[in-house]
Amino acid sequence: MQLQDILFSQGFGHRRVCLGLVQQARVTVNGQAVDDPFAQFEPEGLQFTVEGKPWSYHAKAYLVLHKPAGYECSQKPGAWPSIYTLLPAPLRQRPNKTNTTGVQAVGRLDQDTTGMLLLSDDGAFIHRMSSPKKHVGKVYEVTTADPVDGRQVRKLLEGVVLDDDPKPVRGAACEQTGEHTLRLTLLEGKYHQVKRMIAAVGNRVTALHRSRIGNLSLPADLLPGQWRWLDAAQLAAVQESGTIAAPAASGPPPAPPAR
Ligand code: URA
Repeated sequence: MQLQDILFSQGFGHRRVCLGLVQQARVTVNGQAVDDPFAQFEPEGLQFTVEGKPWSYHAKAYLVLHKPAGYECSQKPGAWPSIYTLLPAPLRQRPNKTNTTGVQAVGRLDQDTTGMLLLSDDGAFIHRMSSPKKHVGKVYEVTTADPVDGRQVRKLLEGVVLDDDPKPVRGAACEQTGEHTLRLTLLEGKYHQVKRMIAAVGNRVTALHRSRIGNLSLPADLLPGQWRWLDAAQLAAVQESGTIAAPAASGPPPAPPAR
């Protein structure tokens, strides 16, 4: 693949910009400046720098982000900054086969919710991970205003009716983890679903953190605001999500794989 095309595919700007970056010797491959935009490289595994910043080629982007509080998941946020500002420009500019540009979040978290977000430019992956039919469990660590009790946990497992749908929604798993905390696993992602379910059992969410999606936990060393590429094992684990049975109705979510 030509170097200028590699840069374009990775989100370094319009073709003309990529051509210029190479011609002006602002790109290095294996430590050597390359000023021939038509120079051919095997893209898979290619490490290069653009204006001194290292980049590694990825045909498709699959990322995990630790969302901090105070960010919106929208591309066009209202009152708060967008989570997309936490990503480097190439990830926001990657060209896509569809009419979208850059990576998109798999589902959304509220502005005040923290924790695990997956992002990708692979439309099929985004659809698969967000479809309720695929039974991908999302695990939430919930902190409540009033003490949690067994009746609330039971009701969350049996199902509660929310104001926009007569069909009850239930936790695929729910367990009390402290006096004011519980862990709730959901298979769907309705608007404010956790907050509304907790309200429906007579309590109120004061803090919400997503700790796991499907077979993948938020890496413990990924700090709020940080992102990283999923490695091949993590991607395989997350893609298998949903083909594995949902966690038992009242038990904790399955132990995270050692990844
Ligand atoms: N449910 C909520 O209420 N908020 C979130 O951010 C995610 C799930």
